[in-house]
Amino acid sequence: MKNPLDCLNDDSSSNICCNPFSFRLLSVMLRIIMFSIRLFQAENFKPGIFKLEDEIFMEKALMLARRGLGKTSPNPMVGALVVKEGKILGKGYHRRYGGPHAEVIALRNTKGDVKGASMYVTLEPCCHHGWTPPCVDTLIEAGMGRVVIGTRDPNPMVNGKGIRILRENGIQVKLGVLEERCRELNEAYLKHTQRGSPLVTLKFAQSLDGRIATKTGRSQWISSPEALSLGHRLRAIHDGVLVGIGTILVDDPSLTVRLAKGKNPRRIIVDGRLRIPLTSKVLSDEGVDKTIIVATEGANRRKAHGLKKLGAEVLWAARNQRGEVDMKDLLEKLGRMEITSVLVEGGAKIITSFLRERLADKIVIMMAPKLIGKGIEAVGNLEIRDVKEALRISKIKMRRLGEDIIIEGHLQKGKS
Ligand SMILES: NC(=O)c1ccc[n+]([C@@H]2O[C@H](COP(=O)([O-])OP(=O)(O)OC[C@H]3O[C@@H](n4cnc5c(N)ncnc54)[C@H](OP(=O)(O)O)[C@@H]3O)[C@@H](O)[C@H]2O)c1
Ligand SMILES: [Zn+2]
Repeated sequence: MKNPLDCLNDDSSSNICCNPFSFRLLSVMLRIIMFSIRLFQAENFKPGIFKLEDEIFMEKALMLARRGLGKTSPNPMVGALVVKEGKILGKGYHRRYGGPHAEVIALRNTKGDVKGASMYVTLEPCCHHGWTPPCVDTLIEAGMGRVVIGTRDPNPMVNGKGIRILRENGIQVKLGVLEERCRELNEAYLKHTQRGSPLVTLKFAQSLDGRIATKTGRSQWISSPEALSLGHRLRAIHDGVLVGIGTILVDDPSLTVRLAKGKNPRRIIVDGRLRIPLTSKVLSDEGVDKTIIVATEGANRRKAHGLKKLGAEVLWAARNQRGEVDMKDLLEKLGRMEITSVLVEGGAKIITSFLRERLADKIVIMMAPKLIGKGIEAVGNLEIRDVKEALRISKIKMRRLGEDIIIEGHLQKGKS
């Protein structure tokens, strides 16, 4: 009997799939069919140049918005363009927290007559007085004819009101252009605004066999230098970086941004019993905002006082059934402190807690081409008995960085 695997080596030219020319033709035809189907299925598909134009300009507005990465929190990143007769007259983006909004900067930078022009903006224009006057008023006064918006702003003071005011003033509004991408850009802002807690990203470096440290607890450095730099870039775009006391005791990290440009995040140490040594680097670095030490009731008050004297902030969180820090309570408290995004850097017990309680939104795994064997596994007991209960990761992105493989994705929706 013929071995089924033999067909892999079968060079018979009568088989269409093995004839290189027929195979290429077939694949080109398939691609054309798939492309046509996608084109006709595309939401809002309308023939003509209009739709394409809207997407092209929104893409540019998104690129502008991204320039504010790591600088606008707890406010969102926003990009805006003023366009007339297919030409860009002005551009702007929200540069820093408390600074003028993207729409206002775009109008300020505009050359030429803006009457009847279109404004492309990644987020619904505001209609309330904050640090700056309402953008809708500025757009109405400028005589804009049309406003194209990426996504609605869930801030209760805006939430569709900005759109309504524009329409009531005779401005044509189109909502939802490149909406998914506009939402992805401001994931942290949207989650914090809607649910009050920060967006949580777990990040760890592991060997190919899933170890984040050797059996002696050493983890420096599993990653390549390139992946280490990426780790610092990630710190710079998060409001907070969080580790457990186990990591402080073994590694004594600084948790600052040194291998990249950008601001230092708030450092958050989960240390229910206040075991942190007073000589830890996270307590001694200068030029960094107060380190937050998370304690639970019963921890030594005198130690807490000593930590405050060293410039740290002691945050009292509730205890969970295991007697440890209740992560959900902690996240709510961090949210109230306007921390909209947290990068969780470990160690194993902390990562496991976030996963077990379904409190993580995203994951970044830096996988080094190394085998450690017996050591500390990245993820511990998640109480999963059946494969169908396994945590699923979606929107996976994979790439090579140095000698490592970086895997990023979103964790399935949880209880958070
Ligand atoms: N490769 C990497 O990316 C990476 C990154 C970081 C760390 N590491 C390695 O990981 C190791 C440390 O990991 P670890 O698991 O021992 O320590 P950890 O996760 O950093 O800290 C765990 C400790 O945090 C406290 N804690 C309080 N509330 C908790 C909660 N809800 N869930 C979990 N922990 C809570 C507990 O201490 P109390 O009992 O005192 O409350 C617990 O023992 C080190 O070897 C380090 O080198 C590797
Ligand atoms: Zn505004």
